[in-house]
Amino acid sequence: EQNMTSLIMIFGATGDLAKRKLFPSLYRLFSRNKLEKFAVIGVARRTISTDEFQQSVKDSVLSALGNKDNLDEFVSHFYYQSHDVADSNSYVSLRKFADEIDAHYDLEGNRIFYLAMAPEFFGPIALHLKSDGLTDVKGYKRLVIEKPFGHDLPSAKELNTQIRTAFSEEEVYRIDHYLGKEMVRNIEVIRFANAIFEPLWNNRYISNIQITSSETLGVEERGRYYETSGALRDMLQNHMMQMVALLAMEPPIKLTTDEIRSEKVKVFRALRTIEGDDVNNYFVRGQYGEGTIDEMPVPNYRDEPMVDKESNTETFVAGKIMIDNFRWAGVPFYIRTGKRMTAKSTKIVVQFKDIPMNLYYQTEKMLNPNLLVIHIQPEEGITLHLNAKKAGGHLDAQEVKLSFANTGVHAMNTPEGYEKLLYDCMRGDATNFTHWDEVAYSWAFVDKISEVWEKTKATFPNYEAGSMGPIEADELLEKDGSFWWPVTNLE
Ligand code: BG6
Repeated sequence: EQNMTSLIMIFGATGDLAKRKLFPSLYRLFSRNKLEKFAVIGVARRTISTDEFQQSVKDSVLSALGNKDNLDEFVSHFYYQSHDVADSNSYVSLRKFADEIDAHYDLEGNRIFYLAMAPEFFGPIALHLKSDGLTDVKGYKRLVIEKPFGHDLPSAKELNTQIRTAFSEEEVYRIDHYLGKEMVRNIEVIRFANAIFEPLWNNRYISNIQITSSETLGVEERGRYYETSGALRDMLQNHMMQMVALLAMEPPIKLTTDEIRSEKVKVFRALRTIEGDDVNNYFVRGQYGEGTIDEMPVPNYRDEPMVDKESNTETFVAGKIMIDNFRWAGVPFYIRTGKRMTAKSTKIVVQFKDIPMNLYYQTEKMLNPNLLVIHIQPEEGITLHLNAKKAGGHLDAQEVKLSFANTGVHAMNTPEGYEKLLYDCMRGDATNFTHWDEVAYSWAFVDKISEVWEKTKATFPNYEAGSMGPIEADELLEKDGSFWWPVTNLE
């Protein structure tokens, strides 16, 4: 079912996401001839003309991709309608307009509704789309919804109920943009296409798995949102947990959406619940203070715009996740993510167990364990750390690295995350979107942690901007006799 004919309606079309990601991604699909017949209706509160809208689409493509061919033809498919999300009349006129555009381009009644706006509008928009007849089409209808999907389990359930009155689960495409990243998609292939990994991929041979997603940016202009979220909800509940699921799931019997999702859900079901007093044994929170990033001084989180001077919001979280199933019993998944850290980097380190007996000492130290490092960003690649004989020496061992770097031509041809996700949605492939069950289990897990943290005031700030987070994050691993592997360069 690959019908690339569609009317795409973008709610929040004057916003940042539309400009930075959606328009350039659509252009790239267009320039690769991936869009057969299409039109876009941009919808937002502001009153601008279609001409002005087309110009802004053009500008955003130019600034993201530089000068491009056929831009005029591309933007001629874009229309604009000013819209009041709370007013039925607004939806009724939108429906008429959509029907006209549909007929004009012969779009077969296929419709994608992309909600790229503040989350409080998701529910009401979905309800209006249904009650005002916009979902009443003869082709397919799909809802693409940005994060955050709720704020905790109860609010996520409420949002889901509203959405599901208008769309079935199969029609809902919940975006987790990490699932659009090339190397996140590669996890599954690395695991299931190599005879040398899968037999070792369990608690007999793996000591621990570490996932780090560090950012150098602070909270920027998003203080208002971030204050209600924090790193736990903003990054861990979705992106980090999705990576855990892909690393931990059983091989699906087939590569279909349902099979893969059901394996991921089983991982979530096996998560050890961390609650009450245990929260502080398994999780560490942090908030950045002043420091330096790229040699520039940067302020305290609490001094950022729209942030409470005594904010208890965490900008860093580290945790130890246990998956209590047959494969993973006893293997910690250590995860950490934060703002204003040393480098922008997302990496996964799979640490294998030490060999049973060590015959080869490296100069004054024990052999390094084997590591499989998956570089998600900014570099893309895989490195396998092995031990081999030191050349010329007696029988000394040294660490050697086998690397595959996805650079040059490959990297340049790699479509951006959003481009892949939009394409998937048009093809009707929901594999790399999150199913409601995954969202619900993940919230249930995270809620127990935030419950404890919201009740107790942390001693913040507790890490310097430009560092790798609070000292407690290192202690978390030290308690287990482990440490974080450095992640700052492609090694
Ligand atoms: C978003 C978060 O989901 O992911 C942001 O809301 C964060 O706070 C961003 O900066 C990180 O994404 P990426 O692709 O830059 O790693």
